[in-house]
Amino acid sequence: MSKTKIAVFSGAGMSQESGIMTFRDMGGLWEQYDITEVASPIAWANTPQLVMDFYNQRRKQLFECEPNKGHLLIAQLEKKYDVQVITQNVDDLHERAGSTNVLHLHGELKKVRSTIDTSLVYEMKDWELKLGDLCEKGSQLRPHIVWFGEAVWAMHEAVELIQEAEMVLVVGTSLNVYPAAGLMNYIKDTIPIYVIDPGSPAFTPQENITFIQKKASHGMEELIDILMSN
Ligand code: APR
Repeated sequence: MSKTKIAVFSGAGMSQESGIMTFRDMGGLWEQYDITEVASPIAWANTPQLVMDFYNQRRKQLFECEPNKGHLLIAQLEKKYDVQVITQNVDDLHERAGSTNVLHLHGELKKVRSTIDTSLVYEMKDWELKLGDLCEKGSQLRPHIVWFGEAVWAMHEAVELIQEAEMVLVVGTSLNVYPAAGLMNYIKDTIPIYVIDPGSPAFTPQENITFIQKKASHGMEELIDILMSN
């Protein structure tokens, strides 16, 4: 008997209780920075050190963060379900909580890649990437992040995965950023969808959507009882 397929679509709110800032909440990351100055190819071309510093600070913080209860409960679902996490987050907290199938739509903070060969991707052991750190072909290494204006290379795979889902959990995303937020349009409208968020994410209410207006850890505690009991 194959396990029921659950897709978990997560965003920055998933990691908020681990101490990582969201982007659009009050005091969020994008209130302190101009996106175009730190998260775009133009910024990288014009002010690479500023971009490097932005990601180094976030990577340094990530090395000091731990997965929260919400990450751990999502990993726990794998005991009973075939779980595929599709995350907009660039942290590795889902993996560190024990989730074994994690697709990153917007890249990974602990990875860097060559600027002349995108297939050359390296795991960082320390938080600091510097100008002059080169790939094996001699080109500057850059954050392995999808910047604004760059293609979301994993989107096709994410669409296929969410179309196969028999249940979808949407946790901690404002559903403001496309193409990622467009995944909602690929979910079968006959399967149960649970949206967990203490705020008001941009989704159209429909009868197969249950909105749990709580933080990720509390919302997952409520949901895990339902999903692990039946
Ligand atoms: N638990 C669950 N959700 C939370 C929590 C929490 N503890 N705290 C905040 N939230 C919710 C907010 O209410 C909001 O709906 O998390 C969501 C965060 O939204 P955004 O800051 O817009 O983050 P996200 O949706 O992941 O942004 C998508 O935009 O800037 C780009 O690449 C960046 O991946 C990011 C993308």
